[in-house]
Amino acid sequence: MKLKYIYAFLFLVFVVSLLVYFSNKGPVDNFVKEFNNSYLSEIEPNGTIIEYDIVAAPSKLNFLGDTETNVWSYNGQIPGPVLRAELGDTIKVNFTNNLPQETTIHWHGVRVPNAMDGVPGVTQDAIEPGESFVYEFIPKDAGTFWFHPHVRSSEQVERGLYGILIVEDPNDPEYSQDLVWVVDDWLIDGDNQIYEAFNTMHDLMHDGRWGNVITVNSQIQPSFPVAHGERIRVRMINVSNARVYKPVFPSINPKVIAVDGMKVADNFNLVNFDLAPGNRLDLDITIPDDFSGDSINAIDTFSKTTYKLASLQVIPEFVDTPDFDLPKNENIPNWTDAKDVEPNVVLDLDAIRQGMQIKWTINSQVFPDVETITLESNKFNKILINNKSTRLHPMHLHGQFFKVLSRNGKEVEEDYWRDTVLVKANESVEIGLVPLDKGLWVNHCHALEHAEAGMMTIIEVI
Ligand code: C2O
Ligand code: CU
Repeated sequence: MKLKYIYAFLFLVFVVSLLVYFSNKGPVDNFVKEFNNSYLSEIEPNGTIIEYDIVAAPSKLNFLGDTETNVWSYNGQIPGPVLRAELGDTIKVNFTNNLPQETTIHWHGVRVPNAMDGVPGVTQDAIEPGESFVYEFIPKDAGTFWFHPHVRSSEQVERGLYGILIVEDPNDPEYSQDLVWVVDDWLIDGDNQIYEAFNTMHDLMHDGRWGNVITVNSQIQPSFPVAHGERIRVRMINVSNARVYKPVFPSINPKVIAVDGMKVADNFNLVNFDLAPGNRLDLDITIPDDFSGDSINAIDTFSKTTYKLASLQVIPEFVDTPDFDLPKNENIPNWTDAKDVEPNVVLDLDAIRQGMQIKWTINSQVFPDVETITLESNKFNKILINNKSTRLHPMHLHGQFFKVLSRNGKEVEEDYWRDTVLVKANESVEIGLVPLDKGLWVNHCHALEHAEAGMMTIIEVI
């Protein structure tokens, strides 16, 4: 009698463990299989070294009427240099800091060796004024990337320190124009200078520092000539401290080729895409043959008042539209069953008061006083990000790409990788990833004032 119960009990335990095994372990292993070949784990160097000298220093910019604005820049220009390399090239940057402050360069979205990631106190020492540092790496992914300081970034990026890195894929089609649109906003005072108070109480209590002048490539509403029938690639990069854009082109229908540098699985129309700080969008735009107006506007529709960012000026010239397939990456995992998997990491985003100050926290911790979170490489990981505040947090993870799985418990269809995702007021977002690159990678809010106020943590990929 007793034995019968024991057998029954053991059998039950067996069945339950089988169920647990197949409902969890099975899919999780499949998630890794589905992921494989989505992007490279290692890249073969092709032997070419592309070398650049970059100097960060105070300079002047003339973009507000006749007055010169004091800025900080890379090589005296804003945006900084556009570095271009082919997949497989080694990029070597001889960097010199001629700023009155220490600095570093972080390669946003680029899977670099950990020691090249530019995070002071985590991957390198800050570079003192007058000192130099050599950054050298082989980008593993082709696409649109950017670089910026990771020291006092809410001040240094706002003053104008950012540049672009484009890694070309030899398999990509040739567009007649490859335009880089660096979108920034500036908080300018009555003397046409950068408003000198950084990380103000106002910035911290809200969504960071939003400026009063919006520029594309440091110009206010620039226009770019295009011909009828022309097919162009536009790379939009949001380098603003905190402003989010929702770009639309009301008179045409651009297709999204890539998000955050990485090609999408299926090209989609540009609608309702929040281009948060850090995000990039690569667009395929064909100027209709029969376009009747003389300009095509790019409008920001994120804020209540819409704003023209830039325009394509359609000149009276006609060219044949090249016929090629949109570039895409078909190997992006669906991970549809990931909804049944419990997250192995939860990140709660919130604010606290510390004396007279406001601090932004991840799991109640203020950077750099954080406990390192561990993720296993080559395993499926699911992270739940809970925004417990009513502010916007564009969360960025260094060194890895992730896929958004759900928002507020509802599955979302995003057939592309990201390195930055906007988490809105009280929203919860689940992301999935298979980390490949080992090391200490920070994860932070890209509203730079929030990051400065502590909203950053360290993820170790082992
Ligand atoms: Cu562009 Cu740590 O960020
Ligand atoms: Cu934030």
